[in-house]
Amino acid sequence: MCVLHIINEGRKVFGSGTNDMNEEEEDMPGWLKDAVFYEIYPQSFCDTNGDGIGDIEGIIEKLDYIKDLGCNALWINPCFDSPFKDAGYDVRDYKKIAPRYGTNDDAARLIRECHARGMHIFFDLVPGHTSEEHEWFRESSKAEKNEYSGRYIWTDMWLAGIPGHPYIGGEAERNGTYMLNFFKCQPALNYGFLHPTARWMDGIHSENALATRAALKDVMRFWLDMGLDGFRVDMANSLVKDDDEQKSGTQDVWRDVRKMLDEEYPDAAMVAEWGVPEEAIPGGFHMDFSLDWEGSGYKTLLRDYEKEDPDLSYFRKSAHDGAPGNRANIMRFLKGYMESLKAAKAAGGYISLITGNHDTPRIRRYMGEREVALAFAVIFTLPGVPFLYYGDEIGMKYAEGMATKEGGYTRTGTRTPMQWTSGKNFGFSTADAEKLYLPVGVGNDVSVEAEEGVEGSMLEITRSILSLRHSFEDLQADADLEIVYAEEEQSVFAYRRGNLLCAVNPSGTEQTVMTGTLSAAGGDPVFAIGSGSFKDSALTLAAQSFAVWKL
Ligand code: GLC
Ligand code: CA
Repeated sequence: MCVLHIINEGRKVFGSGTNDMNEEEEDMPGWLKDAVFYEIYPQSFCDTNGDGIGDIEGIIEKLDYIKDLGCNALWINPCFDSPFKDAGYDVRDYKKIAPRYGTNDDAARLIRECHARGMHIFFDLVPGHTSEEHEWFRESSKAEKNEYSGRYIWTDMWLAGIPGHPYIGGEAERNGTYMLNFFKCQPALNYGFLHPTARWMDGIHSENALATRAALKDVMRFWLDMGLDGFRVDMANSLVKDDDEQKSGTQDVWRDVRKMLDEEYPDAAMVAEWGVPEEAIPGGFHMDFSLDWEGSGYKTLLRDYEKEDPDLSYFRKSAHDGAPGNRANIMRFLKGYMESLKAAKAAGGYISLITGNHDTPRIRRYMGEREVALAFAVIFTLPGVPFLYYGDEIGMKYAEGMATKEGGYTRTGTRTPMQWTSGKNFGFSTADAEKLYLPVGVGNDVSVEAEEGVEGSMLEITRSILSLRHSFEDLQADADLEIVYAEEEQSVFAYRRGNLLCAVNPSGTEQTVMTGTLSAAGGDPVFAIGSGSFKDSALTLAAQSFAVWKL
C-alpha cells in the first residue's frame, strides 16, 4: 500500500500553553532557511599552539574549509571553563572560555570571523546542571543560608533520599542531600518541581526557581551580546523535576526564554537536545534534533545494529537482501518523522536531522562510503535544518576499543581528532603523539588532503550534495515534503520537495517503481549518485543510487 501524505503550509502558531505568543513574535530567524550546521568538538578539531588539544584559533583557521564544504553555521561543543569530567558538560564558569581553548577575546574574534563569512555560530548551553566545582554550587553547599542555597535541589535532612532521582549525601557541610542531573559531578540546577510534594521542593514559579531562570538568561545574554547567534541546548527536556508527560513545566521555562529571544535577540535561535519535536517546538524551541535514541525512527536509518541481527539500517545495502520480514524499511522512520514534522511545522519550527554527534557511534562505523553518501543525500534534502558532525564528511570511522576520556566511555571512539593531512598527527597538531587529546587516525587513514578535489571522494560527494541543497530553495528548510513512494518491504523511497522529485535506492539491485501522476519535466536528473531514469511516471534507479529530477 502506497503512502501519500501531503504536508500543508504550516501556520506558525505557538501551542496552547499559558504563554501564547502573538503573531509578530512567532517569526523564525530567516537565516535558518538555508542553514546547514557543522558540529565541532573543539578539543579534537585543530590544535594551533602545539599542546595537543584543539583550540579556538584552530576553528578560526578552518572556517574557510567549513564554508567551502557548504556548511554555513557552527555548533561548538562546550568550550567553557570546566574540570572536564564530562568533556565540558560540567561547566565551572559559564562566562569564561576554558583556558585550554583560548580566551573570551578569542571567542569574540571567532564570532566576528564567522559573521565576516556570512556564517552563524551556536555555543552549547548546559542549563540543567553545573560542575560540582561551580561557584554557585560551592556556595549552595554551605551550612549558612546564602543567595545560592536554592540554586540546586537539596533535601532538608542529611539522610533524606530523593524518590526516583539520583542524589548525593555526605559531601557537604549543609544538612541535606542534593539531586544529580547526569554524572556524579553534575548537580541539578533548581527549576522546581511541577507539583511539589515535600517541604523542601520548590514550585516552578517559586522565588528560587525563577532565580535559576534569571541566571540562565543572564548567561545567554552574556554571549548573545558578544554576537553569538544562539545555542544548542543540552538535555533541554530535563529542567523541571517530576514533570508531566508532555513536559509542560520544562516547556514553561523555555517559552519564557524564547520570549526573551524574540524580544531582545530576534535573529538568535535555539536547537534542543530533546528528541521530541512535538514537545520541544511548542515549548519554545526553533529546532529539535532527531536523535539516535532507543526506539527513535532516526535510529532505523543509520544505526539499527545494537539489538537487531542482522543490521537493518535502511541505508545498509545488505539490509535489503533479507527475506520478507527481515528487511530494512523506510516506513519505520517515516511513521514517526511525518507526525513530528507536521507538529513541528504547525508550531513554527524545524526538525534537525544529524549525520551523527559526539554521543553517537560515527556513521562510518559499519557503513561503507556509498551507503553513507546515499544517507547524506537524503538527510540533506529533507526539510528542516540539518547538522553534519566534523569528520563525517571525509568518512572518519568510529575508533573501536578506545579507553575512556573525560567521561566519554563508548562515546570516546567518536571524538578522535580531525584528520586534515597525511602528515604528522594527520595535521591535527604538532605535539608529540602521546600528548594528543586522543590518538588520531585509529584504524582509519582518511584525510581532507587526500580527498580534496578527488572525484567520488566522500568529501567531494558531501560538498556536491550540500551545494545542491543551497542551489534549490525547494531542498531547504521550508518546502513541503510529499511522500511519493514508500512501502513496507520495499527499498525505494521517493519524495517530492516543491518542484523537485528525490529518490533513493539503497539496495544492491536495480529497482523500478511507479509514481502515479507525477512525471519529470526533462528526462535527465539534475543530480545523481549512481544513475536513474524517470519516464512516463516509471522511476528506475540503479543499485545504490540517488537522483533528483525537476518536475
Ligand atoms: C548531553 C550531551 C552529553 C553529555 C550529557 C550531560 O546528552 O550531549 O555529551 O554528557 O548531556 O550534559
Ligand atoms: Ca591547542
